[in-house]
Order: sequence, then C-alpha cells, then structure tokens
Amino acid sequence: MSDAAKSLDQRPEPTQTSLAVARPIVKDLAIEAEEVCYWFGEGDTRTQVLFDNSLQIGRGEVVIMTGPSGSGKTTLLTLIGALRRIQHGRITVMGRNVGALGEAEAVALRTNIGFIFQSHNLFTSLTALENVRMAAALKRGTIREMSDRSAAILGRLGLGERLDYLPSQLSGGQRQRVAIARALVNSPGLVLADEPTAALDAESGRVVLEFLRQLADGAARTTVLIPF
Ligand SMILES: Nc1ncnc2c1ncn2[C@@H]1O[C@H](COP(=O)(O)OP(=O)(O)O)[C@@H](O)[C@H]1O
Ligand SMILES: [Mg+2]
Repeated sequence: MSDAAKSLDQRPEPTQTSLAVARPIVKDLAIEAEEVCYWFGEGDTRTQVLFDNSLQIGRGEVVIMTGPSGSGKTTLLTLIGALRRIQHGRITVMGRNVGALGEAEAVALRTNIGFIFQSHNLFTSLTALENVRMAAALKRGTIREMSDRSAAILGRLGLGERLDYLPSQLSGGQRQRVAIARALVNSPGLVLADEPTAALDAESGRVVLEFLRQLADGAARTTVLIPF
C-alpha cells in the first residue's frame, strides 16, 4: 500500500466511502427504461418525441426529471405509469415489464403508483376526506379503516381541520395537498408527480414540495418529480 493510500485509509470517514454508500444499489431498481422511443400521430403527421431514452432509478430515490417544454417528460412519465402503451423499447417498473402487462395487471401496478398532476382532478362534489377515501377504497378494507387512513394522511399534510371542506372551499395549495394525500393514501412504492406546483403561487408551491420531500423520506418510496 502506498503512503498516500495509507493516509487515506486512516481518515475516519473517507469521502469516497460515503459517496459509495449514497449510490443506489444497482440491483434494487425501481425503474429501468431501455431505449424507449415514442411517436405521436399517424402517417405524414407521425412525430417522434422520445429517442432511445434509457434511465435507471433505484428504489427509494427521489429523482427530478428536467428538460425543455415539449421534450417528452410527461410522455415518459405516463409510459412509466402504465398510462400509455409502450411502442418501442422496454420499461420495467417495480419488477414488472410494463409493455407485457395485461389490463388487470396494469391496474394492479397503477394501484401501487401515486400520481400527482398539475391540475389536481379532485371531485368537486366530494369533501377532502371523501376524495382521499375514494382512492383508499382501491385497496381492501372496512369503511372505518379507509376513513382513518385517509384522515391520518390529510392530517400529516396539515389538513386535519379541513376534512369536511369541498375543493371549492380550499386554497389552491390546500387542494394540491389533498391530491398528494390521495396519491399517498395507499402507501404506493412509487410516486409520479408532473409539475405539481405549476398552478400555485411560489409560497404554496414551496409548502407542497416540502411535504412531498418529507413524505418521500423514510419510506422506501421512489419519487419521480417533474418540477414546477
Ligand atoms: N396527445 C398528443 N398528441 C400529439 N402530440 C403530443 C401529444 N402529447 C404530447 N405531444 C407532443 O409531444 C411532445 C412531447 O410532449 P410532452 O411529453 O408533453 O413534453 P413535456 O412534458 O416535456 O413538455 C410535444 O411536442 C407535444 O406537443
Ligand atoms: Mg409535461
């Protein structure tokens, strides 16, 4: 061993080691995309929007996906979420080959994914609690258990006092927090968030992002976030 190597070795916590620990374990991938291509349209108007895109995301990672408007971020996110058909390439999500799933299997996979979109898509005639409980009902349980689970996650998002409010009685930031509660109520292994704060002012947006980060920490939950 050279002197230089030895002195490195004697350091209590070599930087290299902590870097290595912070790397995802390559075998424990939540998402692997291989040479994904995607086209919109038919015939003369057929336009390619994804070009051999590949990526690997480890379980528990929080990944920010950026790129100019129109570069295909939303398209890739909806392919990962089994919301559109794979045309070319391969995407594996939590061990499932998305392109090879039957409809029932795709539904089962989507149940384990929390989606958060720019517009919150809440039911306007249902209260905050009822909106979240609709999603909770995708998993088996008693009404009581679903209500408790829904109220608990709304409470963690600072909406414990607003359970019986309609979306129209909530601010934009509060509505988006209900949408986050709905996405997380079944403790999904994966959260896909597409510009979740785009419709919010800077301060509400900051609060929403902070909640997303907090709720990703500590859970073995992978998050892919397209910012704004
Ligand atoms: N349903 C669609 N039909 C046709 N073209 C589409 C459709 N959705 C998106 N596109 C086009 O595909 C490209 C990528 O879109 P998108 O994935 O939404 O990009 P991003 O999310 O990065 O802004 C854009 O040029 C967009 O106009
Ligand atoms: Mg987009």
